[in-house]
Amino acid sequence: MEDKKRVLTGLQPTGIIHLGNYIGAIKQMVEYQEKYDSYIFVADLHSITIPQDKDTLSKKTRDLIALYLACGIDPNRNTIFIQSENLYHTNLAWILECNSYFGELSRMHQFKEKSLKNQNFTVGLLTYPVLMAADILLYDADYVPVGIDQKQHVEITRDIAIRFNNKYGKTFKIPEPLITETGTKILDLVDPTKKMSKSTENPKGIITLLDDLEVARKKIMGATTDSETIVRFDPENKPGISNLINIYSSITNKSIKEIEKEFEGCNYGTFKSKVADAVVELLKTIQDKYNSIISSGIIDEILDSGKDKSSKIAKAKYELAKERMGFKRY
Ligand code: AMP
Ligand code: TRP
Repeated sequence: MEDKKRVLTGLQPTGIIHLGNYIGAIKQMVEYQEKYDSYIFVADLHSITIPQDKDTLSKKTRDLIALYLACGIDPNRNTIFIQSENLYHTNLAWILECNSYFGELSRMHQFKEKSLKNQNFTVGLLTYPVLMAADILLYDADYVPVGIDQKQHVEITRDIAIRFNNKYGKTFKIPEPLITETGTKILDLVDPTKKMSKSTENPKGIITLLDDLEVARKKIMGATTDSETIVRFDPENKPGISNLINIYSSITNKSIKEIEKEFEGCNYGTFKSKVADAVVELLKTIQDKYNSIISSGIIDEILDSGKDKSSKIAKAKYELAKERMGFKRY
Protein backbone atom coordinates (compact mmCIF):
# COMPACT_ATOMS: atom_id res chain seq x y z
CA MET A 1 0.00 0.00 0.00
CA GLU A 2 2.66 2.50 1.06
CA ASP A 3 4.72 2.29 -2.11
CA LYS A 4 1.75 2.58 -4.45
CA LYS A 5 1.71 5.72 -6.57
CA ARG A 6 -1.06 8.13 -5.66
CA VAL A 7 -3.74 9.21 -8.09
CA LEU A 8 -6.14 12.07 -7.33
CA THR A 9 -9.00 13.61 -9.21
CA GLY A 10 -11.76 16.14 -8.63
CA LEU A 11 -15.25 15.99 -10.09
CA GLN A 12 -17.54 18.94 -10.50
CA PRO A 13 -21.11 18.35 -9.33
CA THR A 14 -22.68 19.40 -12.61
CA GLY A 15 -25.68 17.11 -12.42
CA ILE A 16 -25.27 15.15 -15.63
CA ILE A 17 -23.07 12.13 -16.17
CA HIS A 18 -23.33 10.57 -19.58
CA LEU A 19 -22.11 7.48 -21.37
CA GLY A 20 -19.11 9.45 -22.70
CA ASN A 21 -18.01 10.27 -19.14
CA TYR A 22 -18.49 6.65 -18.12
CA ILE A 23 -16.52 5.17 -21.00
CA GLY A 24 -13.94 7.98 -21.23
CA ALA A 25 -13.25 8.63 -17.56
CA ILE A 26 -15.09 6.64 -14.89
CA LYS A 27 -14.16 3.20 -16.26
CA GLN A 28 -10.53 4.27 -16.12
CA MET A 29 -10.86 5.44 -12.52
CA VAL A 30 -12.26 2.02 -11.70
CA GLU A 31 -9.16 0.48 -13.27
CA TYR A 32 -6.79 2.86 -11.48
CA GLN A 33 -8.08 1.81 -8.07
CA GLU A 34 -6.51 -1.60 -8.71
CA LYS A 35 -3.00 -0.25 -8.88
CA TYR A 36 -2.95 3.20 -7.29
CA ASP A 37 -3.66 4.72 -3.91
CA SER A 38 -6.67 6.58 -5.14
CA TYR A 39 -8.32 9.86 -4.02
CA ILE A 40 -11.56 11.23 -5.45
CA PHE A 41 -13.28 14.36 -4.26
CA VAL A 42 -16.23 16.46 -5.31
CA ALA A 43 -14.93 19.86 -6.36
CA ASP A 44 -17.95 21.76 -5.11
CA LEU A 45 -15.88 24.90 -4.45
CA HIS A 46 -14.83 24.93 -8.09
CA SER A 47 -18.42 24.72 -9.22
CA ILE A 48 -19.32 28.11 -7.70
CA THR A 49 -17.05 29.98 -10.10
CA ILE A 50 -20.30 30.07 -12.06
CA PRO A 51 -23.47 30.66 -10.04
CA GLN A 52 -25.02 27.50 -8.58
CA ASP A 53 -28.49 26.95 -7.22
CA LYS A 54 -28.01 26.76 -3.45
CA ASP A 55 -30.98 24.43 -3.02
CA THR A 56 -29.63 21.72 -5.32
CA LEU A 57 -25.85 21.97 -4.90
CA SER A 58 -25.58 19.52 -2.01
CA LYS A 59 -28.02 17.07 -3.62
CA LYS A 60 -25.96 17.08 -6.81
CA THR A 61 -22.86 16.36 -4.76
CA ARG A 62 -24.50 13.38 -3.06
CA ASP A 63 -25.92 12.07 -6.35
CA LEU A 64 -22.51 12.26 -7.95
CA ILE A 65 -20.94 10.20 -5.20
CA ALA A 66 -23.73 7.61 -5.33
CA LEU A 67 -23.32 7.34 -9.08
CA TYR A 68 -19.55 6.86 -8.90
CA LEU A 69 -20.01 4.15 -6.29
CA ALA A 70 -22.67 2.55 -8.50
CA CYS A 71 -20.19 2.58 -11.41
CA GLY A 72 -17.72 0.50 -9.41
CA ILE A 73 -15.65 3.01 -7.44
CA ASP A 74 -14.81 0.98 -4.34
CA PRO A 75 -14.91 2.97 -1.08
CA ASN A 76 -12.40 0.56 0.44
CA ARG A 77 -9.84 1.38 -2.19
CA ASN A 78 -10.54 5.11 -2.60
CA THR A 79 -10.52 8.03 -0.25
CA ILE A 80 -13.69 9.90 -1.15
CA PHE A 81 -14.46 13.36 0.22
CA ILE A 82 -16.03 16.74 -0.39
CA GLN A 83 -13.65 19.62 -1.11
CA SER A 84 -15.59 22.22 0.89
CA GLU A 85 -15.47 20.00 4.00
CA ASN A 86 -11.70 20.16 4.05
CA LEU A 87 -10.56 23.69 4.91
CA TYR A 88 -6.92 23.18 3.93
CA HIS A 89 -7.77 23.41 0.24
CA THR A 90 -8.76 27.08 0.43
CA ASN A 91 -6.05 27.83 2.99
CA LEU A 92 -3.29 26.49 0.78
CA ALA A 93 -4.90 28.13 -2.25
CA TRP A 94 -4.31 31.56 -0.69
CA ILE A 95 -0.63 30.81 -0.10
CA LEU A 96 -0.32 29.59 -3.67
CA GLU A 97 -2.20 32.60 -5.04
CA CYS A 98 0.48 34.78 -3.56
CA ASN A 99 2.98 32.71 -5.52
CA SER A 100 1.09 32.83 -8.83
CA TYR A 101 0.90 35.60 -11.37
CA PHE A 102 -2.06 37.42 -12.82
CA GLY A 103 -0.45 37.10 -16.26
CA GLU A 104 -0.20 33.31 -16.23
CA LEU A 105 -3.72 32.88 -14.85
CA SER A 106 -5.24 35.25 -17.38
CA ARG A 107 -3.66 33.19 -20.17
CA MET A 108 -5.45 29.94 -19.23
CA HIS A 109 -7.65 28.70 -22.14
CA GLN A 110 -10.63 28.00 -19.92
CA PHE A 111 -10.47 31.42 -18.28
CA LYS A 112 -10.20 33.17 -21.64
CA GLU A 113 -13.12 31.24 -23.08
CA LYS A 114 -15.43 31.65 -20.10
CA SER A 115 -14.55 35.28 -19.40
CA LEU A 116 -15.28 36.17 -23.00
CA LYS A 117 -18.71 34.52 -22.80
CA ASN A 118 -19.68 36.47 -19.71
CA GLN A 119 -17.85 39.75 -19.19
CA ASN A 120 -19.18 40.04 -15.64
CA PHE A 121 -17.07 37.18 -14.31
CA THR A 122 -15.90 36.72 -10.72
CA VAL A 123 -12.30 36.73 -9.48
CA GLY A 124 -12.87 33.05 -8.65
CA LEU A 125 -12.98 32.23 -12.35
CA LEU A 126 -9.46 33.65 -12.66
CA THR A 127 -8.01 31.98 -9.55
CA TYR A 128 -9.75 28.62 -10.18
CA PRO A 129 -6.52 26.90 -11.34
CA VAL A 130 -4.75 27.87 -8.12
CA LEU A 131 -7.42 26.18 -6.02
CA MET A 132 -6.98 23.17 -8.28
CA ALA A 133 -3.21 23.32 -7.67
CA ALA A 134 -3.88 23.30 -3.92
CA ASP A 135 -6.22 20.30 -4.33
CA ILE A 136 -3.46 18.36 -6.01
CA LEU A 137 -0.37 19.51 -4.11
CA LEU A 138 -1.85 18.90 -0.64
CA TYR A 139 -1.78 15.15 -1.32
CA ASP A 140 1.56 14.61 -3.05
CA ALA A 141 -0.39 13.20 -5.98
CA ASP A 142 1.74 11.43 -8.57
CA TYR A 143 -0.94 11.35 -11.25
CA VAL A 144 -3.99 13.46 -11.97
CA PRO A 145 -6.52 11.93 -14.38
CA VAL A 146 -8.26 14.72 -16.27
CA GLY A 147 -9.87 15.39 -19.63
CA ILE A 148 -7.74 17.20 -22.19
CA ASP A 149 -9.47 20.52 -21.37
CA GLN A 150 -7.95 20.38 -17.86
CA LYS A 151 -4.40 19.51 -18.91
CA GLN A 152 -3.30 23.13 -18.81
CA HIS A 153 -4.46 23.38 -15.20
CA VAL A 154 -2.24 20.47 -14.21
CA GLU A 155 0.62 22.12 -16.07
CA ILE A 156 0.22 25.37 -14.14
CA THR A 157 0.05 23.28 -10.95
CA ARG A 158 3.47 21.93 -11.86
CA ASP A 159 4.79 25.44 -12.56
CA ILE A 160 3.50 26.74 -9.23
CA ALA A 161 4.94 23.76 -7.34
CA ILE A 162 8.36 24.04 -8.98
CA ARG A 163 8.44 27.77 -8.32
CA PHE A 164 7.48 27.29 -4.65
CA ASN A 165 10.02 24.50 -4.15
CA ASN A 166 12.79 26.60 -5.69
CA LYS A 167 11.98 29.61 -3.58
CA TYR A 168 11.21 28.02 -0.20
CA GLY A 169 12.73 24.53 -0.29
CA LYS A 170 11.27 21.23 -1.41
CA THR A 171 7.68 21.10 -0.26
CA PHE A 172 5.52 19.73 -3.06
CA LYS A 173 5.64 16.69 -5.29
CA ILE A 174 5.42 17.55 -9.00
CA PRO A 175 2.32 15.80 -10.41
CA GLU A 176 1.73 14.46 -13.88
CA PRO A 177 -1.52 14.63 -15.81
CA LEU A 178 -3.04 11.32 -16.91
CA ILE A 179 -5.09 12.30 -19.88
CA THR A 180 -8.32 10.36 -20.16
CA GLU A 181 -10.14 10.16 -23.46
CA THR A 182 -7.01 9.17 -25.37
CA GLY A 183 -8.75 5.95 -26.27
CA THR A 184 -12.38 6.25 -27.05
CA LYS A 185 -14.18 9.49 -27.60
CA ILE A 186 -17.92 8.87 -27.56
CA LEU A 187 -19.84 10.96 -30.08
CA ASP A 188 -23.25 12.56 -30.07
CA LEU A 189 -25.84 10.04 -31.26
CA VAL A 190 -27.70 12.55 -33.44
CA ASP A 191 -24.68 14.46 -34.75
CA PRO A 192 -21.72 12.06 -34.71
CA THR A 193 -19.34 14.77 -35.84
CA LYS A 194 -19.49 16.23 -32.30
CA LYS A 195 -18.47 14.62 -29.03
CA MET A 196 -21.21 13.52 -26.63
CA SER A 197 -21.41 16.42 -24.20
CA LYS A 198 -23.47 17.58 -21.24
CA SER A 199 -23.96 20.91 -23.00
CA THR A 200 -25.63 19.33 -26.01
CA GLU A 201 -28.80 20.99 -27.31
CA ASN A 202 -30.56 17.81 -28.44
CA PRO A 203 -31.20 15.37 -25.56
CA LYS A 204 -31.54 12.54 -28.10
CA GLY A 205 -27.81 12.82 -28.77
CA ILE A 206 -26.75 11.97 -25.22
CA ILE A 207 -27.46 9.03 -22.90
CA THR A 208 -27.16 9.90 -19.24
CA LEU A 209 -26.50 7.17 -16.69
CA LEU A 210 -29.87 7.83 -15.07
CA ASP A 211 -31.89 7.87 -18.31
CA ASP A 212 -35.07 5.83 -18.33
CA LEU A 213 -34.12 2.45 -19.85
CA GLU A 214 -36.69 2.57 -22.64
CA VAL A 215 -35.73 6.13 -23.51
CA ALA A 216 -32.08 5.06 -23.69
CA ARG A 217 -33.00 2.15 -25.99
CA LYS A 218 -34.88 4.51 -28.31
CA LYS A 219 -31.90 6.87 -28.45
CA ILE A 220 -29.63 4.06 -29.64
CA MET A 221 -32.22 2.76 -32.13
CA GLY A 222 -32.62 6.31 -33.48
CA ALA A 223 -28.88 7.05 -33.69
CA THR A 224 -27.76 8.63 -36.94
CA THR A 225 -26.00 6.18 -39.28
CA ASP A 226 -25.08 6.14 -42.98
CA SER A 227 -26.70 4.78 -46.11
CA GLU A 228 -24.54 1.64 -46.34
CA THR A 229 -25.64 -1.47 -44.52
CA ILE A 230 -22.26 -2.84 -43.49
CA VAL A 231 -21.22 -2.84 -39.83
CA ARG A 232 -17.66 -1.68 -40.40
CA PHE A 233 -15.37 0.52 -38.28
CA ASP A 234 -14.52 3.61 -40.32
CA PRO A 235 -14.67 6.74 -38.13
CA GLU A 236 -14.09 9.08 -41.06
CA ASN A 237 -16.76 7.84 -43.46
CA LYS A 238 -19.06 6.07 -41.01
CA PRO A 239 -18.89 8.10 -37.79
CA GLY A 240 -22.32 7.01 -36.52
CA ILE A 241 -21.76 3.26 -36.91
CA SER A 242 -18.17 3.56 -35.67
CA ASN A 243 -19.43 5.36 -32.57
CA LEU A 244 -21.90 2.56 -31.87
CA ILE A 245 -19.12 0.01 -32.39
CA ASN A 246 -17.00 1.93 -29.87
CA ILE A 247 -19.83 1.99 -27.35
CA TYR A 248 -20.51 -1.73 -27.81
CA SER A 249 -16.80 -2.53 -27.61
CA SER A 250 -16.29 -0.53 -24.39
CA ILE A 251 -19.25 -2.13 -22.66
CA THR A 252 -18.69 -5.73 -23.75
CA ASN A 253 -14.86 -5.62 -23.87
CA LYS A 254 -15.01 -7.18 -27.34
CA SER A 255 -12.50 -5.95 -29.90
CA ILE A 256 -13.58 -4.00 -32.97
CA LYS A 257 -12.54 -6.91 -35.21
CA GLU A 258 -14.65 -9.33 -33.17
CA ILE A 259 -17.63 -7.00 -33.43
CA GLU A 260 -17.29 -6.58 -37.21
CA LYS A 261 -17.23 -10.37 -37.45
CA GLU A 262 -20.19 -10.82 -35.09
CA PHE A 263 -22.37 -8.57 -37.27
CA GLU A 264 -21.19 -9.67 -40.70
CA GLY A 265 -24.22 -9.74 -43.01
CA CYS A 266 -26.51 -8.17 -40.36
CA ASN A 267 -28.51 -5.02 -41.03
CA TYR A 268 -28.19 -1.89 -38.93
CA GLY A 269 -31.45 -2.62 -37.07
CA THR A 270 -30.11 -5.92 -35.72
CA PHE A 271 -26.80 -4.32 -34.79
CA LYS A 272 -28.43 -1.35 -33.07
CA SER A 273 -30.73 -3.54 -31.03
CA LYS A 274 -27.71 -5.49 -29.72
CA VAL A 275 -25.96 -2.23 -28.82
CA ALA A 276 -29.16 -1.04 -27.14
CA ASP A 277 -29.35 -4.31 -25.14
CA ALA A 278 -25.78 -3.81 -23.91
CA VAL A 279 -26.37 -0.16 -22.98
CA VAL A 280 -29.65 -0.93 -21.22
CA GLU A 281 -28.07 -3.77 -19.26
CA LEU A 282 -25.22 -1.50 -18.18
CA LEU A 283 -27.58 1.31 -17.16
CA LYS A 284 -29.82 -1.11 -15.28
CA THR A 285 -26.92 -2.46 -13.24
CA ILE A 286 -25.73 1.06 -12.44
CA GLN A 287 -29.22 2.36 -11.63
CA ASP A 288 -30.07 -0.57 -9.36
CA LYS A 289 -26.90 0.03 -7.37
CA TYR A 290 -27.44 3.78 -7.37
CA ASN A 291 -30.97 3.39 -5.98
CA SER A 292 -29.83 1.16 -3.15
CA ILE A 293 -26.88 3.43 -2.29
CA ILE A 294 -28.69 6.75 -2.40
CA SER A 295 -31.26 5.64 0.16
CA SER A 296 -28.72 4.09 2.56
CA GLY A 297 -26.48 5.65 5.20
CA ILE A 298 -23.34 4.42 3.51
CA ILE A 299 -22.58 7.70 1.75
CA ASP A 300 -22.29 9.58 5.04
CA GLU A 301 -20.03 6.92 6.49
CA ILE A 302 -17.77 7.12 3.44
CA LEU A 303 -17.71 10.92 3.50
CA ASP A 304 -17.00 11.12 7.22
CA SER A 305 -14.05 8.80 6.98
CA GLY A 306 -12.87 10.50 3.75
CA LYS A 307 -13.01 13.87 5.46
CA ASP A 308 -10.95 12.63 8.43
CA LYS A 309 -8.32 10.91 6.35
CA SER A 310 -7.96 13.66 3.75
CA SER A 311 -7.86 16.40 6.41
CA LYS A 312 -5.00 14.70 8.24
CA ILE A 313 -2.89 14.46 5.10
CA ALA A 314 -3.82 17.97 3.95
CA LYS A 315 -3.09 19.50 7.36
CA ALA A 316 0.46 18.14 7.42
CA LYS A 317 1.24 19.52 3.96
CA TYR A 318 -0.41 22.86 4.68
CA GLU A 319 1.55 23.27 7.92
CA LEU A 320 4.77 22.51 6.07
CA ALA A 321 4.02 25.09 3.34
CA LYS A 322 3.17 27.70 6.00
CA GLU A 323 6.34 27.02 7.91
CA ARG A 324 8.44 27.19 4.75
CA MET A 325 7.07 30.67 4.12
CA GLY A 326 7.91 31.84 7.62
CA PHE A 327 4.53 31.63 9.34
CA LYS A 328 5.23 30.70 12.91
CA ARG A 329 4.83 32.12 16.37
CA TYR A 330 7.71 34.54 16.95
P1 AMP B 1 -16.72 16.74 -18.69
O1 AMP B 1 -18.07 16.09 -18.77
O2 AMP B 1 -16.39 17.48 -19.95
O3 AMP B 1 -16.50 17.53 -17.44
O4 AMP B 1 -15.65 15.56 -18.64
C1 AMP B 1 -15.45 14.71 -17.54
C2 AMP B 1 -14.58 13.55 -17.97
O5 AMP B 1 -15.27 12.74 -18.95
C3 AMP B 1 -13.27 13.96 -18.63
O6 AMP B 1 -12.25 13.06 -18.23
C4 AMP B 1 -13.53 13.80 -20.10
O7 AMP B 1 -12.36 13.49 -20.82
C5 AMP B 1 -14.50 12.63 -20.15
N1 AMP B 1 -15.44 12.79 -21.29
C6 AMP B 1 -16.37 13.79 -21.43
N2 AMP B 1 -17.06 13.63 -22.57
C7 AMP B 1 -16.58 12.52 -23.19
C8 AMP B 1 -16.89 11.83 -24.40
N3 AMP B 1 -17.85 12.24 -25.21
N4 AMP B 1 -16.18 10.71 -24.69
C9 AMP B 1 -15.20 10.28 -23.87
N5 AMP B 1 -14.86 10.87 -22.72
C10 AMP B 1 -15.53 11.97 -22.36
N1 TRP C 1 -11.25 21.50 -12.65
C1 TRP C 1 -11.68 20.13 -12.79
C2 TRP C 1 -12.84 20.04 -13.80
O1 TRP C 1 -13.48 21.01 -14.05
C3 TRP C 1 -12.14 19.56 -11.47
C4 TRP C 1 -11.03 19.58 -10.47
C5 TRP C 1 -10.92 20.42 -9.40
C6 TRP C 1 -9.91 18.72 -10.44
N2 TRP C 1 -9.79 20.13 -8.71
C7 TRP C 1 -9.14 19.11 -9.31
C8 TRP C 1 -9.49 17.66 -11.26
C9 TRP C 1 -7.96 18.45 -8.99
C10 TRP C 1 -8.30 17.03 -10.93
C11 TRP C 1 -7.53 17.41 -9.80
O2 TRP C 1 -13.10 18.97 -14.31
